[in-house]
Amino acid sequence: MSRTFYVNGEFVAEENATISVLDRGFLFADAVYEVSTVLDGKLIDNKAHLKRLARSLSELSMAPPCSDEKILEAQLKLLDLNSVSEGLLYLQVSRGVADRDFAYPKDARSSLVMFTQEKNLINSPLAETGMHVISIPDLRWKRRDIKTVGLLAPSMGKQAAVDAGVHDAWMVEDGLVTEGTSNNAYIVTADKKIQTRHLGTEILSGITRQAVLSFARKAGYTVLEEPFTIEQAKQAQEAFITSASTFVMPVVNIDGVALGDGNPGPVSKELRKTYIEMALAHQDL
Ligand code: PDD
Repeated sequence: MSRTFYVNGEFVAEENATISVLDRGFLFADAVYEVSTVLDGKLIDNKAHLKRLARSLSELSMAPPCSDEKILEAQLKLLDLNSVSEGLLYLQVSRGVADRDFAYPKDARSSLVMFTQEKNLINSPLAETGMHVISIPDLRWKRRDIKTVGLLAPSMGKQAAVDAGVHDAWMVEDGLVTEGTSNNAYIVTADKKIQTRHLGTEILSGITRQAVLSFARKAGYTVLEEPFTIEQAKQAQEAFITSASTFVMPVVNIDGVALGDGNPGPVSKELRKTYIEMALAHQDL
């Protein structure tokens, strides 16, 4: 059975889920997006995703398509129509349709599209083995705090990883790791401190990052929000990534160098377990 998609107020079959060729999301990547986790048929940390969406829109002077209440209503109906139990809900807002012109059109109406993806997130085989990553130069633009659909550089990075036979790539700028192609990057130091780059325009402020750092601190971990080099990462006891689609995922190999004994480390495993428990309990993460 085909999935139901949401397009500007309508719930339609995939073949009818279309937008104009003149949509600025298509022509200029003039659009922003969010990916929310679905567990037990419920959205995880969705309020935080909608807050970040509002910020992305505001940074680009793009009008919200409708109120957060209306977005949530549509999200819940879409989950229901597609009977999604575990997976992801993708949401994208573009500036809308206008004849091609670089400057923002005055009268465009923002468009909102959504779809769902059923996916096994909890029982991921990768969580057992851990990920292998390579390092690549960060070719992205300078406003990575805005969650834009301009994703060609991360796509190139992910493809470079696939070509190298690994799972993902960590991007490096001025000698320092920024983040993974679609996730935040962390190392665990010899004295068990969790280190991840500070927030700023160089990285996306991950919703999962916020949740994980908050409960890691509560659990007594010292968190260093400082950038690290790829060499530091290779010397680390452990490494991991976070995102709505991977939760906490151990990284066991960087550029061919095994971390620790080459298996997922205890800190990554504990953080993953805690995140899943909290998400399943639908605690405000
Ligand atoms: N990616 N950094 C980048 C560049 C990302 O694209 C993402 C999310 C994150 C993690 O953010 P969060 O914890 O809010 O998911 C960090 C999503 C999952 C994607 O593009 O599919």
